[in-house]
Amino acid sequence: MSKILKWAVLAILAALVIIQFFGIDKTNPPVIEGESFMAVAQPPAEVARLLKDACYDCHSHETEYPWYTSIAPVSWWIGHHIEEGREHLNFSTWGTYNAEKKAHKAEECGEEIEKGEMPLTSYLPMHPEARLTAAQKEQLISWFKELSGESEEGGEAIGPSGAPSSEGDEEYEHEEEEHGHEH
Ligand code: HEC
Repeated sequence: MSKILKWAVLAILAALVIIQFFGIDKTNPPVIEGESFMAVAQPPAEVARLLKDACYDCHSHETEYPWYTSIAPVSWWIGHHIEEGREHLNFSTWGTYNAEKKAHKAEECGEEIEKGEMPLTSYLPMHPEARLTAAQKEQLISWFKELSGESEEGGEAIGPSGAPSSEGDEEYEHEEEEHGHEH
């Protein structure tokens, strides 16, 4: 090995060691029981299980962080997915969405699953439980369809209190334009 190459390898190793000091924040924000998707939308047990297995790591405050989320730079990439995932759709704060936003997000869930965009492909190799069969996809798609219809027609049909909140309304309209599906 030439001297330069040797130093280059050492420099890269040193950098890899140093970046390990910059871990991601793995504290899950608290889940307010009454605001969670499970409490508010009350999906059937099978749907609930599929969502927890295939979506909750990125779209809730119940994220599980496997060992490799401790290793930079992989951890940064995963942390970014979680942050962005929660921003777009957070099952833990579902109850704070107003009826219109609930209907819209439910509709999008069905669409994303149908198109095969969600769960993210990069998530699947390490998460066999998130690989949905055609039948499971069908089950989720038709349930989300029902849910989006319900929230749209009933207005306040979804939600224990029935009180619509106006928060987050404008927010999702921007999101639509700004974010494509760049993974
Ligand atoms: C590995 C992390 C990850 C998993 C697992 C995952 N998502 Fe996502 N999801 C994201 C990220 C990141 C975005 C935002 C960027 C994008 O749209 O690709 C997103 C966006 C979305 C959106 C778009 C919301 C909007 O406002 O445009 C929906 C709907 C969605 N996900 C539903 C799901 C569903 C349903 C599942 C489970 C079947 C799931 N996701 C699993 C990371 C994930």
